[in-house]
Amino acid sequence: MKLTVLGASGGTGREVVRQALAAGHEVTAVVRKGARSLAAVAGADPGDGAAPGGKGRSGVADASRRGGQGGGRGRLTVMTVEDLTNPAALGPVVRGRDALLFCPGLPGGGRPTGRLGAAAHALVRAARAAGVRRLLVVSTAPVGPLPPDEGVLGRAVSPVLRTVFKDVYAEAAAMESELAHSGLDWTVLRPGKLTNRRGKGRYRRRVGGNVPGTGTLARADLARAVLDLMDDPAVRGRTVGLGSARG
Ligand SMILES: NC(=O)c1ccc[n+]([C@@H]2O[C@H](COP(=O)([O-])OP(=O)(O)OC[C@H]3O[C@@H](n4cnc5c(N)ncnc54)[C@H](OP(=O)(O)O)[C@@H]3O)[C@@H](O)[C@H]2O)c1
Repeated sequence: MKLTVLGASGGTGREVVRQALAAGHEVTAVVRKGARSLAAVAGADPGDGAAPGGKGRSGVADASRRGGQGGGRGRLTVMTVEDLTNPAALGPVVRGRDALLFCPGLPGGGRPTGRLGAAAHALVRAARAAGVRRLLVVSTAPVGPLPPDEGVLGRAVSPVLRTVFKDVYAEAAAMESELAHSGLDWTVLRPGKLTNRRGKGRYRRRVGGNVPGTGTLARADLARAVLDLMDDPAVRGRTVGLGSARG
């Protein structure tokens, strides 16, 4: 498939790119200027030719490479978009794609910036304009309600998290709302705290709600879920709670 990964230089984004290339997909990785972390993982050298951070058409620079480190078989194109809230800037990175995978980080510091909702709004507009229907977004579990089968610990901790990080979750909720009203084939993934631990190669998921005892999830397993669910018709227009596999 032809995929665009936004937030590709982040922890999850890099894993999504790596696994997508290994699976043979054609990947457009969207990064900000000067993002070098993607190069280390995917084997795209920003210093090589028309590189991320360089000037290109419409504020977009790109560098293409076949495969990548880790035995990737797909094709990687790295493109730079400085402002994810600008639908015109997103046009070149969404046109002709089968699916858009959106995983830029939540704003830090607990102060709302409005950027995440604005970026989702711009992406929806760009996708519609380009005729791309499939859009999968990484959000966060506390945006959704606790599941009815949540344990005692989760019930105790959840109100504290939701109070401390309420502005962060409000941003994620604004992002989700853009999708819910988009008319596109969207899916929202809601994991708990992400880690860089080695993935288990499997995960728990619940369509339409959070998994009980959400806990932590390795970014490698989140990336696997992103790619598993990206062309799963059963999760179109649905939220999917994710958690680490038990055992
Ligand atoms: N971290 C967690 O524990 C956690 C928990 C639940 C859900 N999530 C969600 O999971 C996803 C991935 O999280 P992560 O921790 O793996 O990501 P991360 O490592 O923090 O990476 C964040 C990515 O977002 C990009 N980014 C940040 N602000 C941006 C902006 N204003 N414009 C454009 N790009 C911007 C960063 O680009 P640069 O490399 O250029 O900075 C980077 O590629 C996010 O959607 C996050 O909200 C995270």
